[in-house]
Amino acid sequence: MKNHIALLPGDGVGPEVVKAAVTVLDTISLKFEHEFIYTHALIGGAAIDEVGDPFPKETEQVCLQSDAILFGAIGDPKYDNDPSATVRPEQGLLKMRKTLGLYANVRPIQTFVATLEKSPLKRTVVEGTDFVVIRELIGGIYFGERGRRKNGTEAFDTSSYSVSEITRVSKFAFELAEKRHRHLTLVDKANVLETSRLWRETVQHISKEYPDVVVEYMFVDNASMQIIKNPTLFDVILTENMFGDILTDEASVITGSIGMLPSASIGEKTSLYEPIHGSYSKAAGKNSANPIGTILSAAMMLEHSFRMTDEAEAIRHAVEKTLDEGYGTRDIVIDSPLGTQALAERITQHI
Ligand code: IPM
Ligand code: MG
Repeated sequence: MKNHIALLPGDGVGPEVVKAAVTVLDTISLKFEHEFIYTHALIGGAAIDEVGDPFPKETEQVCLQSDAILFGAIGDPKYDNDPSATVRPEQGLLKMRKTLGLYANVRPIQTFVATLEKSPLKRTVVEGTDFVVIRELIGGIYFGERGRRKNGTEAFDTSSYSVSEITRVSKFAFELAEKRHRHLTLVDKANVLETSRLWRETVQHISKEYPDVVVEYMFVDNASMQIIKNPTLFDVILTENMFGDILTDEASVITGSIGMLPSASIGEKTSLYEPIHGSYSKAAGKNSANPIGTILSAAMMLEHSFRMTDEAEAIRHAVEKTLDEGYGTRDIVIDSPLGTQALAERITQHI
């Protein structure tokens, strides 16, 4: 069977880490006799530079015609310090999420034995951490009405959620919890926000359909503390768009390097896979970025979009073995770190 994969390298270190993941996918296709067909498309700052649009129509078509999307990173510092820029790379990502209906962002937070000491947190705190954040991805303040008023001297962003938006992502999270340790924590700010109260009400209602899942409710300020103090408390965290954005960057420090973490954005039709790190433009073109987040994202793609469980497991196992042998990029290894591509090639040796 042929599997069509859209490759969207994007900005900064995106092209290097996507290339590294393709190296690993090529090994999988040889070993397991699959045919992966890749189509490259532009997104983000790279797309603005080429065609003036961060998510060109052509890219949308490539995504819609593919079975899955592997994405690198988005963002360019030349836009970050220019609040007046009307076209920004991030708009491409948001437009893609919305257009493709990528409603559930899945961000697993796991530790690797080999890199436990890299965490700024104590080993006794982080050891055994294994939870997944399910972040709602196409609603809330990211997509609400925003603007300026009073001659530009006042600005507003609004957050809004409907019962159906909350229900769709919540069911996804409950189903995942059923397959894991049957513990779901809804993170919100229901003591202040009306949207959060609707989330709580809706989740309470849905939880009746999943009697085996223990549900806990936690305010986001407390959750941000518990993730650092007691990360092993969590199994599945369900939360809205912006809280999920912030909490997953925070949670990434548990593993020692944000470069190690994969993610999936699940859509009704096509899904997208990407490392959770950003474009890290300072390292672009230096062949030094950690490709493991993207390689593990490719593993998630094989498992979720193509139902290739053994193949996904082969990648995870190869990553773990490579780390156990002491190999890594410079964010995780001090003595003789490998380059991005060399680390990917090392990983393929174990497949
Ligand atoms: C993420 C990123 C994006 C987000 C940015 C680049 C718009 O931080 O995927 O977490 O805020 O969703
Ligand atoms: Mg983020």
